[in-house]
Amino acid sequence: MSKSLAGKKILVTGASSGIGEATARLLASEGAAVVVHYGQRRDAAEKLVAEIAGAGGVAVAIGADLLELDQRSTLVARSIEALGGLDGLVNNAGRIVKPTPVLELTLEGWRDAFALNAEAPFFLAQQAFAHMQAHGGGRIINISSIGVKFGGSPTSLHYSSAKQALEGVTTGLAKAGAPVNVLVNAIRPGVIDTPIHSHQDPENMKRRVAMIPLKRFGTSEEIARMIAFLIGPGGDFITGQIFAVSGGE
Ligand SMILES: NC(=O)c1ccc[n+]([C@@H]2O[C@H](COP(=O)([O-])OP(=O)(O)OC[C@H]3O[C@@H](n4cnc5c(N)ncnc54)[C@H](OP(=O)(O)O)[C@@H]3O)[C@@H](O)[C@H]2O)c1
Repeated sequence: MSKSLAGKKILVTGASSGIGEATARLLASEGAAVVVHYGQRRDAAEKLVAEIAGAGGVAVAIGADLLELDQRSTLVARSIEALGGLDGLVNNAGRIVKPTPVLELTLEGWRDAFALNAEAPFFLAQQAFAHMQAHGGGRIINISSIGVKFGGSPTSLHYSSAKQALEGVTTGLAKAGAPVNVLVNAIRPGVIDTPIHSHQDPENMKRRVAMIPLKRFGTSEEIARMIAFLIGPGGDFITGQIFAVSGGE
């Protein structure tokens, strides 16, 4: 049986952990050649590349700290060179950077949150867009957060604001991309069971999960399946949309 993403070349940022890892694994299993991008965790990225290769897939690990301009600015070009083209970009890498109560937020903390969660994905998307436009089109998926709906937690206003900016980027790029077959969408994950929560107080997490209509964490695979849908044939007539995958929130 033919695979839904056979022949596609896709860069997944933040694929050394959590949602990005599950996404790279799923896209590769559907026939795509993937760049497993990592920030610090090279070992984890290389382990995933070996796993994908062992299953008969194609993957390459490329590192870049997205808070470092010189590293960030070459990631798309390096990915295009490694894969021999680019049909898809999953802008997944992100985090709060530094959880901080609203009244203690500093300019530096604000700027770091925006640099990682809004600025980096936009400039990666801009480079990917230029390549896709010149080669018949492509797909860009931006990973936002359900936090946008709630204004973040008491210590993540800067992060949820940056994710809201990323949703603005999504709508604007979708408009620019429609005439040239570059389709751009965003996903708002709810509370997903990944290492991003490893420093959270377990009691707080229990209270947070109790607020979710489906009463459980989501899994990385549940987000990956939505990404694979939008990047594959299921997404052919979808652009400029923001999808919550969040257990009913
Ligand atoms: N999990 C949730 O509940 C949840 C909810 C809403 C939205 N999200 C969003 O979903 C995305 C994935 O989150 P996750 O839960 O899978 O987190 P995770 O397991 O902590 O993984 C985060 C990934 O981002 C990369 N990354 C972080 N900072 C980076 C930097 N400065 N430069 C390069 N890469 C960097 C990490 O790479 P290294 O570890 O190699 O440095 C890692 O691969 C994020 O955008 C997050 O905001 C998650």
